Amino acid sequence: MAKRTRKSTKSWHGRLSGEADQATSELLASIDVDAALYKYDIAGSLAHATMLREIGVLSRRELGAIKKGLQKVADDIEVGKVKLDPALEDIHMVIESALIKRIGEPGRKLHTGRSRNDQIALDLRLWARDAIDDLVDLLRQLQSAFVAAAGEYGQIVMPAYTHLQRAQPILAGHALLAYVEMLDRDAERLADCRKRVNVCPLGAGAIAGTSIPLDRKLVAKLLGFPAIIRNSIDAVSDRDFLAELCFCLAGLGVHLSRWAEDWIIYSTTEFGFIELDDSVCTSSSMMPQKKNADTLELIRAKSATAIGNLCGMLTLIKSLPSGYSRDLQDDKRFVFATVSTMKSALAVAAKVVSTARFCPGRIAADLDAGFLDATSLAEYLVNKGVSFRTAHGIVGELVANAARTGNTLASLPEVVLRAADKNIGPDAADHLGAANVVKHYKPEGAAGAKQLRKQLNFWKRKLR
Ligand code: ARG
Repeated sequence: MAKRTRKSTKSWHGRLSGEADQATSELLASIDVDAALYKYDIAGSLAHATMLREIGVLSRRELGAIKKGLQKVADDIEVGKVKLDPALEDIHMVIESALIKRIGEPGRKLHTGRSRNDQIALDLRLWARDAIDDLVDLLRQLQSAFVAAAGEYGQIVMPAYTHLQRAQPILAGHALLAYVEMLDRDAERLADCRKRVNVCPLGAGAIAGTSIPLDRKLVAKLLGFPAIIRNSIDAVSDRDFLAELCFCLAGLGVHLSRWAEDWIIYSTTEFGFIELDDSVCTSSSMMPQKKNADTLELIRAKSATAIGNLCGMLTLIKSLPSGYSRDLQDDKRFVFATVSTMKSALAVAAKVVSTARFCPGRIAADLDAGFLDATSLAEYLVNKGVSFRTAHGIVGELVANAARTGNTLASLPEVVLRAADKNIGPDAADHLGAANVVKHYKPEGAAGAKQLRKQLNFWKRKLR
């Protein structure tokens, strides 16, 4: 037998007589998730009440009682003294009923000219604004960790890979600062998203506004919004701002996953480019020697949560009729999980980066393998007047020869080099070997020392 919930817990007991059974109550309830919004809900109510006083709906005494009451409710929620009753459905009703319990009649006036539809839109925007600020802070910290690592290990010459095959030599700092660029776009996207989050929906009511002469601009000002949402239907319908936040975080998740993958590879015995700190690694319950990069693997995995929740969020709003539909209540499940997941991924990522050590010996040991200097030799020939396509062919044959005979390009006998092209002279030596190659990178943004200095200066200034 389904258990009956208490009668008259609901604010709409005037209209509906039947009470929901427990399973129905649980389906309807969002308090398990939206309790996290209580501070924002109370901040919104304080602003709304202040405005109701300004337009004469509340007396000074009533406003005073509401303010004190809401503060008390906030304190009581904080210490768990307010029951988060699923029969009340959501944080809005929990707070209103707790307020009325504490201050009586004035509390019954608070919801004047307001609906939970514009109330939740407000709470979510206040919450998203803070979430974005926290995320951007964490992103900046992670960027700073990469910049510090680039300062410390930046001059190490290492291979760059395309198709995960050795491509050209680079300075390690260049590779580290590439992540800083990606993360910067993530931060910029979040900052841009914040502009669309930062508009005030309150006053839209359920969908059409209200006959009460609310001062929407005052509420917006009190809550730090530079503008109000122009259209009441849009104000209660719009969840683009959450989908956009999910998109920004899916993008961030993808970036983190690519970095994590790079470093998982670099920290293998086979590569050995990076030694991760023990504090961010785990071991095996069976194999005593194991040092696993589980944190990086989980950071890589978190992109799945972010991407999945973006799909969930978009699917939730797809084909919804204009106006509020209860489907929207489930938006929080996607966006809250995404934000907390990415916050923790960012925090741990910064720790991984700031404690990792590059291993110059290991990197240098194999640097001659893989013909990282082949492009450099071709460009040496270009500088002697050979067309690039011809030079490419000449060096390709030299690489094949060296691979066959167990040589590097630098160790090929001079006669072989000269036989390949008469333009190859003793000065070619300065263009062979990874360390020499990085000395000759010319354009801005290339992987050499002077470009690295410029990038480092840029980021140090920007992140200060
Ligand atoms: N708890 C709801 C949400 O999170 C807000 C309530 C709107 N409910 C309603 N029946 N109009 O979206």
